[in-house]
Amino acid sequence: MDVLNGFAAADFDFTFLEEGFSARDIMEQKINESLLSDDKDAFYVADLGDVLKKHLRWCRALPRVTPFYAVKCNDSRAIVMTLASLGAGFDCASKTEIQLVQSLGVEAGRIIYANPCKQVSQIKYAASHEVQMMTFDSEVELMKVARCHHNAKLVLRIATDDSKAKCRLSVKFGASLKTSRELLERAKELGLDIIGVSFHVGSGCTDPETYTQAISDARCVFDMGAELGFNMTLLDIGGGFPGSEDAKLKFEEIAAVINPALEKYFPSDRGVRVIAEPGRYYVASAYTLAVNIIAKKVIKKEQSGLDADEDDSTLMYYVNDGVYGSFNCIFYDHAHVLPTLHKKPKPDEHLFSCSIWGPTCDGLDRIVEQCVLPDLQLGDWLLFDNMGAYTVAASSTFNGFQKPDIHYVMSRAAWQRLQQICAQGLPDALEEQCSTNATSCGRESSLEIPAKSCSTRVL
Ligand SMILES: Cc1ncc(COP(=O)(O)O)c(C=O)c1O
Repeated sequence: MDVLNGFAAADFDFTFLEEGFSARDIMEQKINESLLSDDKDAFYVADLGDVLKKHLRWCRALPRVTPFYAVKCNDSRAIVMTLASLGAGFDCASKTEIQLVQSLGVEAGRIIYANPCKQVSQIKYAASHEVQMMTFDSEVELMKVARCHHNAKLVLRIATDDSKAKCRLSVKFGASLKTSRELLERAKELGLDIIGVSFHVGSGCTDPETYTQAISDARCVFDMGAELGFNMTLLDIGGGFPGSEDAKLKFEEIAAVINPALEKYFPSDRGVRVIAEPGRYYVASAYTLAVNIIAKKVIKKEQSGLDADEDDSTLMYYVNDGVYGSFNCIFYDHAHVLPTLHKKPKPDEHLFSCSIWGPTCDGLDRIVEQCVLPDLQLGDWLLFDNMGAYTVAASSTFNGFQKPDIHYVMSRAAWQRLQQICAQGLPDALEEQCSTNATSCGRESSLEIPAKSCSTRVL
């Protein structure tokens, strides 16, 4: 496949970065362009080279584990296209996500329908589109699948102790070990094929030992399955991996716990294929959001009945994206965000206690309750890093505010690397560390990308 043609014909705004230019330069360029006009809408710059870097890092740290990217985290076509080119698989939660991934030419075997509670019509859709791998955690789900999808390859989702994760999932999903046995017995009666076990330690995991416990629990369920005559060959270790460098627990620290646990409970020579469903890991750090100050209020101390000293005022900044847009992550993803300044303050510049608010008429629409910033003016820009995960995917246009445009970039060097991986697989240095499982590090790339108009430019 010619990735270059695929991207050049894609329907998103994409710019190649020549040597010496970075995503930050594009951001700067867009901001400079905005100085000449009134158009100061919020926008993203997303570096697809960062996604590539993450993939190489994944393959190095977890050579046995094939990533199936969790589309729900950021369903932008450019992201899915990049990961499809790298040979990743996909975790889809719905018919629409399956449609998106398949529209890019990804074969059904590279998709896991990883939603344990599915609408019947969507199970039928998966069946008619040859998507066979799917998760379940209840008897009712087994019965639906028995009725609608005779070729399903079922993966039993087990609960984990996700009490230390940022976003807990096991309150809603996952069977206990006791229930797992009952479900396996029921599946046997229904003549269904159970191929493996999945779990999710919770998004934003802070305790790597949760993976060890979950892998050990999965081993128990494999053993129960074997007793009942199932040939289980798939372990899905879910998501939970950090997406930015400011996370307390580093990706490599988690990998250092997972690898020995896999070796202990699922030794590589036993033929169990291991996959994962990383979302945040792949996309968080690739996206930077620029928002513009559209209104401002100065709250003087005297208003609160104290001494009136200008320097003691607090400032309220109103910007053009908020919690109903990209910053929905504050509510849904328990995110804490802080801006960086586009214009560097002078060394002696006075700093004020500030709050930052979104553009809607809702009093809930507050992005930052308290931070320290200089006296900024209308039209100034604030930047937010690490905004790729659970942001654009769940944002709305409440109050009529449109979602920010996304400008994708990739360096020429990253581009060439992507093409090379697409054509020849991973470079030798990485392959030496990769397992013998050919799908693990993304060598099954066979993506056809549809021709559409684009605005590809070279800096
Ligand atoms: C089933 C499933 N898999 C994977 C993910 C992705 O998790 P993360 O972004 O923590 O990697 C989620 C997130 O909610 C999920 O529900």
